[in-house]
Amino acid sequence: MSDPQAKVHSSKLETLERKNQEALLGGGQARIDAQHKKGKLTARERVDLLLDEGSFEEIGKFVMHRSKDFGLDKEYYLGDGVVTGYGTVNGRLVYVFSQDFTVFGGSLSETHAEKIVKIMDLAMKNGAPVIGLNDSGGARIQEGVVSLGGYADIFYKNTLASGVVPQLSAIMGPCAGGAVYSPAITDFILMVEDTSYMFVTGPNVVKTVTHENVTSEELGGASTHSTKSGVTHFTAANEVACINQLKQLLSYMPQNCEETAPAVPYEASNAARPALDSIIPENPNQPYDIREVIEGIIDADTFMEVHQNFAENIVVGFARLGGRSIGIVGNQPAVLAGVLDINASTKAARFVRFCDSFNIPLLVLEDVPGFLPGTDQEWRGIITNGAKLLYAFCEATVRASRSSHARPTVAPTT
Ligand code: HXC
Repeated sequence: MSDPQAKVHSSKLETLERKNQEALLGGGQARIDAQHKKGKLTARERVDLLLDEGSFEEIGKFVMHRSKDFGLDKEYYLGDGVVTGYGTVNGRLVYVFSQDFTVFGGSLSETHAEKIVKIMDLAMKNGAPVIGLNDSGGARIQEGVVSLGGYADIFYKNTLASGVVPQLSAIMGPCAGGAVYSPAITDFILMVEDTSYMFVTGPNVVKTVTHENVTSEELGGASTHSTKSGVTHFTAANEVACINQLKQLLSYMPQNCEETAPAVPYEASNAARPALDSIIPENPNQPYDIREVIEGIIDADTFMEVHQNFAENIVVGFARLGGRSIGIVGNQPAVLAGVLDINASTKAARFVRFCDSFNIPLLVLEDVPGFLPGTDQEWRGIITNGAKLLYAFCEATVRASRSSHARPTVAPTT
């Protein structure tokens, strides 16, 4: 190749290719192997599983951190610990960020935060869901308050996007500190059993401050957050199952607050379904399972229960009726006689508000003895928390789309 211009061109292409290969390796092969050994996938493998084949367009692949303190001037990784971009899930546009635990434990730096904020901005502009695949040790300790400022920016964008585009968070590793708060502002959290944790401070800090001995699993594992705290809405046996749940969940939702969820072709099924005239017992004191009633009403096999093992005295979830997406709220007479307590109220209130924000009609099955009496509930605020459910139902409207209600609007751009 004698043409000097062609030589420069070719060496630029080689540099680009080298950088592309380097970025694909994140924190290096040894850390990727360690990630696999723990039964975890890498950030890129997760994105590949989530998105339709060949649809991913990456943004910020060569971004690096700016900090020079505490040895960071000697350690750089292309992408800075988060893979960001957009693609499609079953043909529908989504924006995604996937934190890379092989780079500083997926911790959040100033530039890592900027990448996440950028795709949230694009998602709001273009009216599409944001999916976060979280695997992060929280604020990047070496960056101090600069990193905390990055969290502030993300929290702010989460609140602006709330009720405008769906925001879904999958927790796929140990998420500590600031890494748990952005997911908590989003609409739904999914956790992977045995390999994901969420806590504000880990077991060692807990031991120092409160002298409690607790394991990571007990403190913030999927089982704890799906039964005791209600922090997570779904759990999955492994990462593949978790990503499949994400896709299923998305299928019930519209792209944004101005649209309705896509309908699927409806075919009447001959599958044996519970007969609605024989479920409710003659004796009002005898319990029955509201899930049987739900299954008897909806399109066969379409119920996706939310918070299945938390506040079981109320059942909420998505389903389809004649191929259309609906949200279901039903008192559960089989648990505590279906009484409303603090957890049931907050669980259902949040679900109702989500459905209302995204034009998902509600089917409400009511069979309730009232609010739970007693000092425990009164002292923990059943009045304030019960009111959240009343507020959510009073506020909810049924509309096809674009009503005159004052709501934030999205302005799709190309
Ligand atoms: C920089 C971090 C990091 C962090 C982990 N690493 N967390 N680097 N900042 N926050 C690095 C480790 O140094 C290590 O680097 C690699 O990531 C993997 O970490 P390990 O500890 O080896 O992994 P593991 O044993 O699986 O434990 C994961 C962990 C633990 C539970 C997340 O690393 C941990 O406790 N990290 C600190 C968590 C924390 O205190 N975060 C709070 C930050 S303050 P090498 O080079 O060895 O691969 C915060 C406040 C925000 O977030 C407030 C907002 C309102």
